[in-house]
Amino acid sequence: MNEATLDKRLIAESFSRAAPTYDKAAALQRTVGSNLLGRLPRDFVPGDILDLGCGTGHFTRALAACFDTPVIGLDLAEGMLRHANEHSPGLDHWITADAERLPLRSESRDLIFSSLAMQWCPRLDQALAEAWRVLRPGGCLAFNTLLEGSLEELRQSWKAVDNLVHVNSFMSLTELTLLLDDAGFGDWQCDVERHVLFYPRLGELTQELKALGAVNLNAGRPSGLTGKARARRLTAAYEQFRTEHGLPASWQVAQVVMFKQPGRTGVSA
Ligand SMILES: C[S@@+](CC[C@H](N)C(=O)[O-])C[C@H]1O[C@@H](n2cnc3c(N)ncnc32)[C@H](O)[C@@H]1O
Repeated sequence: MNEATLDKRLIAESFSRAAPTYDKAAALQRTVGSNLLGRLPRDFVPGDILDLGCGTGHFTRALAACFDTPVIGLDLAEGMLRHANEHSPGLDHWITADAERLPLRSESRDLIFSSLAMQWCPRLDQALAEAWRVLRPGGCLAFNTLLEGSLEELRQSWKAVDNLVHVNSFMSLTELTLLLDDAGFGDWQCDVERHVLFYPRLGELTQELKALGAVNLNAGRPSGLTGKARARRLTAAYEQFRTEHGLPASWQVAQVVMFKQPGRTGVSA
């Protein structure tokens, strides 16, 4: 099993474990997914829709209601799909698969929607190539992803404790823009939203990340639990960021809408 496969197994396990707690903790996820939905052109009426990295199925249900058509939910984590299936009456097409290797026919979808899943793909270029392949000419890929600067306060606070990797790394806007340019779509728009959430205490932020399944799975992460002394140093470092609203956690979200222009050739990643 190579490194990438191992990471994906860990990602799937982490999100499967989080399925029962995810929805209650997912306020930011709801906001940025709704903003993405709102970016779809009003006159765009897709017939066949894929919700890529659908998680508990919140946006799978929203897409089905919005466009009055069945939607396929696809996710790496079986536990997420079980939860989605149990909570989505009328929707019964769920696929366990990897965004980087879609088990779907070429040119079979009009819309691929994906909220906050792409940052978990080590090969975003491969996921974009797969989306391009599966979309019909004129079809749309609407996705959002996290950028560099997300959870920056947590990353900097950990730096005061040790040099290990405690926070997932996110790509820069420049890196993302290069990938979008190279993906073969021809017509795309990318806007960046900044969101700041506030917490009374650091423990509430870390509990929330755990409930979401958004745990650190990078190579170089620490192998054991955080000792009391190190936890105290982390808390003290994070306190430096406190504002009158509480402890801030920043998120940089790229909102991307791309259309597969008819007649263009795709890029194989
Ligand atoms: C933060 S959750 C977002 C879920 C949902 N889209 C929402 O907005 O509530 C990220 C989801 O992406 C899934 N995911 C991560 N990597 C994936 C991959 N390579 N292929 C498909 N799904 C993936 C995870 O299992 C998880 O359910």
